[in-house]
Amino acid sequence: MTLNCRICKTIVRPFMSFGKMPIANGFLNPDDFPMEYFYELKPIFCENCLTFQIAEQPDPEKMFHENYAFFSRTSKHMVNHFRSYANWVKSEYLSSSDPFVVEIGSNDGAMMENFSKNKIRHLGIEPSANVAKEASKYGVNTLCSFFNLATAKNIVSKDGQADAIIAANVMCHIPGLHDVAKGIDYLLKPMGVVIFEEPYLGDMIENTAYDQIYDEHVYMFSVRSIHNIFKKYGFELIDVKHQTTHGGSMRYVLARNGKRTVSKNVEKQIAYEDDKKLHLSGTYDKFREQCEISRKNLVDTLQQQKRDGKRVVGYAATSKSTTVLNYCGIGPDLIEFISDTTPIKQGKYSPGVHIPVFSYDNLKNNYPDGLLLFAWNHKEEIMAKESSFLKNGGEWITYVPHVALIRK
Ligand code: SAH
Ligand code: TMP
Ligand code: ZN
Repeated sequence: MTLNCRICKTIVRPFMSFGKMPIANGFLNPDDFPMEYFYELKPIFCENCLTFQIAEQPDPEKMFHENYAFFSRTSKHMVNHFRSYANWVKSEYLSSSDPFVVEIGSNDGAMMENFSKNKIRHLGIEPSANVAKEASKYGVNTLCSFFNLATAKNIVSKDGQADAIIAANVMCHIPGLHDVAKGIDYLLKPMGVVIFEEPYLGDMIENTAYDQIYDEHVYMFSVRSIHNIFKKYGFELIDVKHQTTHGGSMRYVLARNGKRTVSKNVEKQIAYEDDKKLHLSGTYDKFREQCEISRKNLVDTLQQQKRDGKRVVGYAATSKSTTVLNYCGIGPDLIEFISDTTPIKQGKYSPGVHIPVFSYDNLKNNYPDGLLLFAWNHKEEIMAKESSFLKNGGEWITYVPHVALIRK
């Protein structure tokens, strides 16, 4: 079967396979084990439009629904980040008298509440009903829908065009980006801006952070790929800003061609990408080799812990951990349980390898010898919170950028 790039239709082929994968956020009960859904996780790099993507993605309705397990507010650091992101949008781009801001993938309203509090006209677009409901507690107006051209028309007919369309960690989730770009073109005012930040391909390659690749992340973007995707619709990048969130992200600012000044940051970041050879397929062959080394080292480390009679518990049942656990074949024989603060995940089992997920209390009441840090993108926040674990002789196991043990 031939595969075509979702963006430019060039014939493409995967450069590796991570094997059979379940839904990354599909935490489940034992009754559901026999029906668990699997697909093959195979990444692709399109040498024509330079878009990194996965070959097969489960239907969006299988991932984003009334039981969606990811709530933005579980990280205090991200709540703070969204406050400063929103303030920056306000001060830089909302100069009209009654601005209207739309967020794509507004989740539990962690970003939009900063507009609702300031009485700024706003609308969050969020297809997962449970998280959208949470947002209403914060006075956030939400339309429970997938964003596309039809949704954009619906919004414009009721509220008019937007001054800013903003997003975080969602564009990389949407396979049909052409329809999203058409929707943005329809919804945005002539002088409006589109701002979104997404995990950055450059950081993923640099840090062998292969766990950024999972069903929801159908794309991993670079500045060059975003440029190629949006130019067809008359948009240009006017600024880019690297972010430390989620293990390295990039904020992209787009406007209609020629309408706004283009920052030097855009050209600088493109030069960085060329220097790192992000546009060459050989880079992805090296990445595959690094993934294989990482897998071997992690499995060896956990098996050694087991031989030494040490208890190891996973820290945070992240979506990313699903790729790691299933690719490496790590199950309950090596990890006793995973601790997570999200109630909807607790009492369930992790996708594919079926490690039990328990509340944080289970960890606090009985610390193990080793904690495997799945939420490595929240490392600072977690290390600060867990400083006594190290002091008391505990050991962290990390795998990004390399497999390593952290002791006092
Ligand atoms: N922006 C939040 C949430 C990211 S998770 C944050 O950064 O923390 C991605 C969110 O996008 C989920 O809540 C999911 O339900 C939503 N989503 C997925 N596809 C979408 C689409 N086509 N349009 C709008 N939202 C979408
Ligand atoms: P994510 O990596 O898919 O964004 O998910 C982060 C998960 O980490 C989420 O389920 C909540 C969990 N978590 C903890 O359990 N403890 C923490 O201190 C933090 C920051 C996150
Ligand atoms: Zn392409």
